[in-house]
Amino acid sequence: MKTAICYYSRHHGNTLQVLEVMAAEGDVTLLDVTTRQIVRLEEYDCIGFASGIYGFSFHQAVTAFARQYLPQGKPVFFACTYGMTKGSGPKDLMEIAREKGCPVLGAFGCKGYDTFGPFALLGGIAKGHPDARDLENARRFFQKLRENYDSGEKK
Ligand SMILES: Cc1cc2nc3c(=O)[nH]c(=O)nc-3n(C[C@H](O)[C@H](O)[C@H](O)COP(=O)(O)O)c2cc1C
Repeated sequence: MKTAICYYSRHHGNTLQVLEVMAAEGDVTLLDVTTRQIVRLEEYDCIGFASGIYGFSFHQAVTAFARQYLPQGKPVFFACTYGMTKGSGPKDLMEIAREKGCPVLGAFGCKGYDTFGPFALLGGIAKGHPDARDLENARRFFQKLRENYDSGEKK
């Protein structure tokens, strides 16, 4: 399953840590949505969109990227990290996927170290996250997603 994961990970690189574990599990290209690049998502079997939660949802740079580049009908999945709660999470991305006829294969989320605003005064929240268990859950999530995709392909 040739996969591209389009991501935004700026606050502490928490989401990128999760994605690197997924990338080690297969044929995965990580695309930073803030980098100028030629984007050809048609070449992939499956597209992931990933971000820290910023103001209760995925970063708008990821949503804008999906709106512009996600090909019609392409299977997608979502991954996020958050300090406290994922809020509406990938709701906007789900809507874009629906509009483009893209099946949603799954969504992963875990806590990520957060020193935004007043939390910095407390030394941050979700300290130490993503931790080893979060990363193992991320690895299993992606492994399962890939197995499901591969078994669907063989039918
Ligand atoms: C500007 C800003 C807004 C944030 N908004 C939220 C939020 O609404 N809910 C939440 O649980 N965490 C929030 N966080 C914490 C991040 O979601 C969390 O630290 C995440 O792991 C950051 O991912 P990254 O390091 O990959 O960018 C926010 C952080 C920043 C800097």
